[in-house]
Amino acid sequence: MQITDQPGAVLGVTVEDFDHTTASDTDIGTLKQTVYTKKIAVLKGQDLTPEQFLALGRRLGRPETYYEPMYQHPDVPEIFVSSNVPENGKQIGVPKTGKFWHADYQFMPDPFGITLIHPQVVPEQNRGTYFIDMGRAYERLPGELKKEIAGTRCRHSVRKYFKIRPHDVYRPISEILEEVETRTPPVVRPTAFTHPMTGETVLYLSEGFTVGIEDADGAPLDEELLKRLFEATGQLDDTFEHEGIHLQSFEKGDLLVWDNRSLIHRARHTTTPEPTVSHRVTVHDECKLYEGMPAA
Ligand SMILES: [Fe+2]
Repeated sequence: MQITDQPGAVLGVTVEDFDHTTASDTDIGTLKQTVYTKKIAVLKGQDLTPEQFLALGRRLGRPETYYEPMYQHPDVPEIFVSSNVPENGKQIGVPKTGKFWHADYQFMPDPFGITLIHPQVVPEQNRGTYFIDMGRAYERLPGELKKEIAGTRCRHSVRKYFKIRPHDVYRPISEILEEVETRTPPVVRPTAFTHPMTGETVLYLSEGFTVGIEDADGAPLDEELLKRLFEATGQLDDTFEHEGIHLQSFEKGDLLVWDNRSLIHRARHTTTPEPTVSHRVTVHDECKLYEGMPAA
């Protein structure tokens, strides 16, 4: 296994000669540590079946199966499928996922530490995923803003981006919204917490899932504060040229592993849709999202 920094980027490493079937526990430990500190690892030359991909994921942690069945791979439910390419006339997984800033499972009671993506059909033109390192983003916040958010908490919900399922057709929208609130009630997290693996302070909020901010006593704060945080971290920049935004490219055979605590990400916006399919496995590591997180 050879690990090399990605040239010209502040984030990410390339990993050559990684084989999950022969990697030692020490190799796995090194790989995970690299993911926590360098944020993204691109494993090269991975040509894996869904079963093999899941086996690789299991080497890094305990897989979390996505809670909505329509995203699940028909043979390997632990795999989340994003696809706009029907197979034998049938939709597999869900098209156009994640076209907004978010951390995976940010709205859930027990978010996992690591996300793995294995692109299957790679677009020709608009390839890649956008990332923002929210550890670095915290560091770069103006001192005043850091002071203002000290001790505050954010509220996260899937409500803005919950995707209507086939069986929701003809249901009243109020009933669907009520179901979303009952099944996935908003969760409250510190606005910034200490990354349990690196000790770094991480801002934990996203334009897609963060719906409110409150003080230490639970009293709601002006939404303007959230807006300023989205702005400062680059999440409102539609040109994607903000200095905090990193575009991670990939090619067929790559497998991306990233730190889901400190990175937020967003699927690349395309005006001309191209065929794209990717498989995702998500795993819990040895720690909770942050130390002292209330039990789910
Ligand atoms: Fe995602």
